[in-house]
Amino acid sequence: MNIFEYKKEIEKRFLTHNIDKNEVNILFCEALNIDYTKLLTIKDISSKQKKQIEMAVKKRIKGKPIQKIFKRAYFFGYEFYVNKNVLCPRPETELLVEECLKFAKQQSRILDLCTGSGAIAISVQKNSGANCFASDISTKALYVARKNAKALGAKVRFLKSDMFENIKSKFDIIVSNPPYIPSKDIEGLDKEVKNYDPKISLDGGDDGLDFYRLIAQNAKQHLNKNGKVLLEVGKGQANKVKKMLEKNGFVCYIKKDYNNIDRIVVGELYD
Ligand SMILES: C[S@@+](CC[C@H](N)C(=O)[O-])C[C@H]1O[C@@H](n2cnc3c(N)ncnc32)[C@H](O)[C@@H]1O
Repeated sequence: MNIFEYKKEIEKRFLTHNIDKNEVNILFCEALNIDYTKLLTIKDISSKQKKQIEMAVKKRIKGKPIQKIFKRAYFFGYEFYVNKNVLCPRPETELLVEECLKFAKQQSRILDLCTGSGAIAISVQKNSGANCFASDISTKALYVARKNAKALGAKVRFLKSDMFENIKSKFDIIVSNPPYIPSKDIEGLDKEVKNYDPKISLDGGDDGLDFYRLIAQNAKQHLNKNGKVLLEVGKGQANKVKKMLEKNGFVCYIKKDYNNIDRIVVGELYD
């Protein structure tokens, strides 16, 4: 079958379901397991390939994100295994990794709280050589994170913990992208998020700020001298989180994401 005509047909089907037509190329690449440059050289596809694409198209139209269909997500230049037990790492979280790498040294001890797929801890460890630790409350998420660390050759130590409960040591940096959606807003999220990211990875309590409150109150006792906290926050949360950290002795600044949204709050301790 002519790939060009088939792509046009899928684009139309995507548009009628309000799916960005740019996802067509991504889906074709993933289904055929090739990169975009290779896709551009293909003129025809076999009936077996068409079947593979068609299966993925049907799942996408039902709302399943491409990363969850093919169980892989790309983050900070690495391929991560993802499944229904973890949130797909988001592009804005790469800024959190970039900011963390400004402080991370080979001898630093870094904790990634709420690690999910392990994307933050693994990317930071690979690019800094630091001593990285990562924790999550979900055993199933930790299974995914460990699998990713092994596949990517990252030396990260994983630990199951309800926030700081089992964290007994101190760190130079605590980094986290915790759940931050207000509970009442979860129902109104896009079905790609609501139905395919685990609720435990989204729900930040009544005002979405429960995890930041806990981090602001407890981080200091888990930080070394001149320690730092780096947090990703949801839209409209940055100033509230900054104030919480300041109340607990941190000197803070905020970084914007590429959409000009205040996205990262950094708190530093000065002794
Ligand atoms: C927004 S996801 C972030 C995942 C990953 N860090 C990322 O940025 O892609 C939040 C994670 O927090 C974990 N989590 C939820 N409640 C927790 C708790 N009480 N203690 C530790 N982790 C928790 C969830 O299992 C989920 O993996």
